Amino acid sequence: MSGTMSQITVTGVPGLPEISPGADLARLISDAAPGLRDGDIVVVTSKIISKAEGRVIRADRERAIDGETVRVVARRGPTRIAETRHGLVLAAAGVDSSNTAPGTVVLLPEDPDGSARRLRKGLAERHGVRVGVVITDTMGRPWRIGQTDAAIGAAGLTPLRDHRGQADTFGSPLEVTIAAVGDEIAAAADLVKEKTAQVPVAIVRGLARLVTEADGPGAAALIRPAAEDMFRLGAADVLQARRTVREFTADPVDSGAVRRAIAAALTAPAPHHSQPWRFAVLESPRARTALLDDMLAAWTADLRGDGFTPEQIARRTRRGEPLRRAPLIIVPCLVAEAAHPYPDQRRSAAERAMFLVAMGAAVQNLLVALAVDGLGSCWVSSTLFCPQVAAGSLGLPPGWEPMGAVGVGHPAAPPPPRPERDPGSFLMTL
Ligand SMILES: Cc1cc2nc3c(=O)[nH]c(=O)nc-3n(C[C@H](O)[C@H](O)[C@H](O)COP(=O)(O)O)c2cc1C
Repeated sequence: MSGTMSQITVTGVPGLPEISPGADLARLISDAAPGLRDGDIVVVTSKIISKAEGRVIRADRERAIDGETVRVVARRGPTRIAETRHGLVLAAAGVDSSNTAPGTVVLLPEDPDGSARRLRKGLAERHGVRVGVVITDTMGRPWRIGQTDAAIGAAGLTPLRDHRGQADTFGSPLEVTIAAVGDEIAAAADLVKEKTAQVPVAIVRGLARLVTEADGPGAAALIRPAAEDMFRLGAADVLQARRTVREFTADPVDSGAVRRAIAAALTAPAPHHSQPWRFAVLESPRARTALLDDMLAAWTADLRGDGFTPEQIARRTRRGEPLRRAPLIIVPCLVAEAAHPYPDQRRSAAERAMFLVAMGAAVQNLLVALAVDGLGSCWVSSTLFCPQVAAGSLGLPPGWEPMGAVGVGHPAAPPPPRPERDPGSFLMTL
């Protein structure tokens, strides 16, 4: 098409009534847009499809999100980015509580491509026209500020245009360009549809070349298969996200985040197929203060025994303060009951080392999972140096050996950049 001018128009369709379950959308849209022509693309906000299909339910929003979620992709505080059973990845699994009666939530259509096909058929029957249909929902994009509309359902439309193999203006072949025209149309229509006003439909005219005879693959074609998803695990960022944080805000720590972090800890490797990890979660200020005061007394006694002066002791013990400033303390504990007994010191020490390293792996998982949830942490040695005192103060069950303590909270400031480390200096290759 080079050298030719092309023009499209995007026109909002006002005048649709509030949509109720069972509404005949083809009729309502036909009435509101009597001038529909062959080759037009009818772009419809998914919310009215959901309303017509009875997908408005009276439910707790969080429960509804659970029900629509097959995989939580990312989470920060109360915000969940989740994959739905359609394979869509979007905030709150597409569950929406705006523009619906209080106490109700709107779920995405069961089968948005099916909805698009039905609407297309209905419009063809009424108008005798061959149009494309796009059903949209609003999504954020990773790495980009702001939301835009994307196609979650489509019929009679080429959703992707594959330019690979075509030549660019310099004659070089394009290698990776696949235009997501379904999403582009959805975004263009969003410019004229108004979320608060009653304009949930727009007509895009001038793209008849994208409108097909057959219903085609639908918007399902826009979903990237898991095997091709370079960011499925967010892998690179995850480990970098953990830094030792020693200054926290006073904001409380979400107990759900703590449970998720402990669940992550429980996936650590451990010897003999054992699960030697336990966690004391000190939610009450009283429990935290009692532990810290008891440990301070033990530490002070140790230092006095070493011959330090009171001033020197005061200076040293100030180092224990990250835990005092943390709104939550977790004491990871080792239960090494699965350790095999050996008659000799060498093998007993090796057996003990196995369990200790398994504990380190679990705590690292815990800290990383907390960081993924936006929480800072500081794992300090403290309880390791006074295990009996700590166990007594916490009332730990027999066999629970405290392995330091982890202060948890919202970081008061972003951590400094991590110094670069050259892996070459840390390894030997044989
Ligand atoms: C077993 C263990 C004990 C630690 N004890 C303390 C401690 O007593 N006080 C402290 O401020 N940090 C303590 N740390 C945290 C380290 O100082 C911290 O991991 C290190 O400075 C590297 O910084 P990063 O965690 O941000 O990568 C401890 C870490 C580990 C693994």
